[in-house]
Amino acid sequence: MSSATDHDTAVKDSGAEMIPVFNPSTEEQIAEVVDSDAAMVDAAVARARETFESGVWRTLPAAHRAQVLFRAADIIRERTDELAGLESRDNGLNFKAARHIIDVSREMLVYYAGWVGKIHGESSNVVSDGLLGDYENFHNFTQLEPVGVVGLIIPWNGPFFVAMLKVAPALAAGCSCVLKPAEETPLTALALEGVFREAGVPDGVLNVITGYGETAGAALTAHPDVDKISFTGSTEVGRLIVKAAAGNLKRLTLELGGKSPLIMFDDANLKRAIPRVGMGLLAGSGQNCSCTSRIYVQRNIHDEVVDKLAAFAKRLPMGGSDEPDSLLGPLISEKQRRRVEGIVDEGVAGGAQVITGGQKMDRRGYFYEATIVINTTPDMRLIREEIFGPVGCVVPFDDEDEVIAAANDTEYGLASAVWTENLGRAHRIANQLRAGQVWVNSALAADPAMPICGHKQSGWGGERGRKGIEEYFNTKAVYISH
Ligand code: NAI
Ligand code: MG
Repeated sequence: MSSATDHDTAVKDSGAEMIPVFNPSTEEQIAEVVDSDAAMVDAAVARARETFESGVWRTLPAAHRAQVLFRAADIIRERTDELAGLESRDNGLNFKAARHIIDVSREMLVYYAGWVGKIHGESSNVVSDGLLGDYENFHNFTQLEPVGVVGLIIPWNGPFFVAMLKVAPALAAGCSCVLKPAEETPLTALALEGVFREAGVPDGVLNVITGYGETAGAALTAHPDVDKISFTGSTEVGRLIVKAAAGNLKRLTLELGGKSPLIMFDDANLKRAIPRVGMGLLAGSGQNCSCTSRIYVQRNIHDEVVDKLAAFAKRLPMGGSDEPDSLLGPLISEKQRRRVEGIVDEGVAGGAQVITGGQKMDRRGYFYEATIVINTTPDMRLIREEIFGPVGCVVPFDDEDEVIAAANDTEYGLASAVWTENLGRAHRIANQLRAGQVWVNSALAADPAMPICGHKQSGWGGERGRKGIEEYFNTKAVYISH
């Protein structure tokens, strides 16, 4: 066991409190990181502010900034295995899945490095009514300017990726950042800070602070010198962030929870559908905000789909960071496992039926079996709440109107899916689903260029794509009278 960085060792020697970090697949402590207090948050914000005002990063030529980001991507490529090993031990997921996370994170960085210098305003020549009853000629233009010091707060699911989803566009836009990873998974965020420094991002432009949400996260969110917060996590904490941001009316991007529906019609290609629907539910052991965990199936194929999904779920090998052939990892903590257990047990007590899974696994690590449930009712927490565990509910339906109403009967609106070979129906359903993403004959698909914008209580603003970088700019209108 070691401290995460030399910096942490130095801080520890100075007497700071530390947070133990565990590998959720072995329950072993693997590191400890600094439990940052408000003074440490102040110091990080001050470093970011100084670099933003001095312009060491934001005023560099675009080609130079892009080059630094591409260099960081190259470093990540060279260190893929090392970073994947760290992500795997920190989050508990197996090495192959961790490698995939590092790869898609690097691709996200390359995508945003490509945007540097390509976000422009608009211009126009106009004649306006002047203040003196005359006409005035103008050349007008808008320009986009980096929003300033941004606080980036991320959760424990896919930590390296979610960090990159924020850091890449923020740096590409020219912002200075304070990144706070989740207390459960701080290690790859600290590594990311090192990667960017080595690539040539000036000191103080990207500052990682480790610490608890209630202390370090709350101090960052309330900080009067932070211009914007981008947060990914629970809807409950999202609400706290909205309140805390009111002090200086910070800009906010919120990527919150989901309870995403998937609708399967009887003309779906089941051979393609079962493994994709299964992974759309179970990837990351369900610890994914966009997983499609309410599965509505047309009644005449309901039993067949339940059997096949249950068989698929049963076959998926579960295992941790040191089990290379596993596909599903543990939950992040014993607390999270108890939460999942509680929701399933409550459903069963209310008449729901577990087809497969429904138990914690009798082994080391916070494992919970891949679980398929039927006979739920619309008021159960199984149907209403984001579970963040490997638990899917299959619900039969008879017609389109009924299933659209059921799918939209949620406070969330992050993602959704429809499986049908009927093109007209696919469009019709996609138009009516109230969610920021719709997958047709797919599940959990993602592309750096496609935005994810939560509707309803799933969030504010968006990430990925052009939208994702625009969130890190302010717009200024300039009038030139001539
Ligand atoms: P959380 O929302 O408490 O944690 C996410 C991040 O927010 C962490 O970095 C945490 O330190 C920080 N945070 C917590 N309280 C804060 C505060 N008052 N001010 C500023 N930052 C704060 O999520 P948690 O407790 O880890 O998980 C609970 C449930 O939340 C999960 O079961 C899941 O349903 C949901 N969740 C959803 C995520 C998503 O991507 N939509 C991600 C993580 C959790
Ligand atoms: Mg929490």
